[in-house]
Amino acid sequence: MEAFDYTRFRRVLLDWFRKQQRSLPWRQNREPYPVWVSEVMLQQTQVRTVEKYFPAFLEKFPTIEQLARATEQEVLKVWEGLGYYARARHLHRAARKIVVEYGGMIPADYREFRSLPGVGEYIAAAVLSIAYQQPYPAVDGNVRRVVARIFRLEAPLHRRTAVKEVQKRASALLDPAKPGEFNQAMMELGALVCTPLRPACQGCPVRELCEAYRQGEPEQFPRRGAKKPLPLQKVAVGVVLRDGQLLITRRRSE
Ligand code: ADE
Repeated sequence: MEAFDYTRFRRVLLDWFRKQQRSLPWRQNREPYPVWVSEVMLQQTQVRTVEKYFPAFLEKFPTIEQLARATEQEVLKVWEGLGYYARARHLHRAARKIVVEYGGMIPADYREFRSLPGVGEYIAAAVLSIAYQQPYPAVDGNVRRVVARIFRLEAPLHRRTAVKEVQKRASALLDPAKPGEFNQAMMELGALVCTPLRPACQGCPVRELCEAYRQGEPEQFPRRGAKKPLPLQKVAVGVVLRDGQLLITRRRSE
């Protein structure tokens, strides 16, 4: 088999991204703080929803200092409707740490940033590559699918060995000269072209380099493993209604 042409892959992907990328609010500004906020929101929420919440959040908390000074209730209020509220709590706690321990500067060091509340491998790589041009591959679900197709990976993605393999392949693909742009291009390709069902290979800039496309069965990748049965939980729920009003209480943060 001929050697994989990394240089060509990077060039055609970045050319495509520069022309085809969506205009999204968090792409107007590469400052670490807004990049971080956007990636935290995007990790578990669709782009369409984040497009509304991201500008509102930054309007309310324009700087990391203002976020750090806010109460948790104020932060949760702006997050209301986005879901996965632990993200907001972690972001808030991390902001306070950054103000106290790093003078309000988001650390550019991978291990320092990664050690903050809520900052996992994906968030660390996304923020450090986009805001600080550091060469870490940001591997989310879209990117895993793209990588599995390009290299026709046989292992189902939920296996630990496959996760490592994807990470290794993604590191090799990454353009070290343009890591932030490259990472976003991979995500954009996964979102717009290399979709889970019926990928639009005719519009794909890297199809000639894609092993799954060349073999004529891109949709067969990533391989699906046997699904775990859905866990069944029994819960009791009480609903308190009076005069058309519904009683709600706040869960404890843990
Ligand atoms: N999903 C996660 N990060 C993203 C980004 N920066 N742009 C678009 N979609 C994303």
